[in-house]
Amino acid sequence: MKFYNTYILPRLTHWVCSGKEFKNQRAKVIPHARGRVLEIGIGSGLNLPFYNPSNIDFVWGLDPSKQLQKIAEKKAGVLPFNVEFIGLSGEEIPLEKNCVDTVVVTYTLCSIKDVQKALIEMNRVLKPGGKLIFCEHGKAPDDHISRWQNRINPIWKSVSGGCNLNRPIPRLIEKSGFKINNLDMAYIGRFKLASFNYWGIAVLK
Ligand SMILES: C[S@@+](CC[C@H](N)C(=O)[O-])C[C@H]1O[C@@H](n2cnc3c(N)ncnc32)[C@H](O)[C@@H]1O
Repeated sequence: MKFYNTYILPRLTHWVCSGKEFKNQRAKVIPHARGRVLEIGIGSGLNLPFYNPSNIDFVWGLDPSKQLQKIAEKKAGVLPFNVEFIGLSGEEIPLEKNCVDTVVVTYTLCSIKDVQKALIEMNRVLKPGGKLIFCEHGKAPDDHISRWQNRINPIWKSVSGGCNLNRPIPRLIEKSGFKINNLDMAYIGRFKLASFNYWGIAVLK
């Protein structure tokens, strides 16, 4: 499993997340980011080309995966703003309180082990008036799909770097001291078990 997690999984994650449906979603949310940005689970940096450089001071890119960071560094090198990588987990963000204008999280809340703790950390570092921009897959609204998500989740999780199919994303965000101002949701692909997306903007309660 170590070989798979170190060499195969990062490339697979990068390849899957480069898909057209994901690109469309990134284009909807990332241009809303402003100022000092913290991207949680920056992965291979697939959101980087979607930031509007004229609105960005710089980006902190946090992710525990060194392999994905290597890919992201190449993308960051050609940008007109700085990206500072932090090789840590979202559960313990090494930044002070109220110092971030925008927290960005895409396709990552599914994989964070203690997701509630990480969201509370995002809440802590966000300035009053700041925004949490999110786009995530999660629990499907149709009972028969959601039942299959629950059944398959243990196997899925073990081959996908800890990704959960069935997390109730808006509820998790709202339970962590955020108020969701804009929320959209839809299936974005044919593989319904992993394609029900929630995206939008939340603010501090
Ligand atoms: C499916 S990838 C998505 C990457 C990127 N956000 C994107 O939109 O392409 C999930 C990411 O979550 C990261 N991740 C896993 N556990 C994490 C944690 N505890 N804190 C922060 N990121 C984590 C993984 O390393 C990986 O980069």
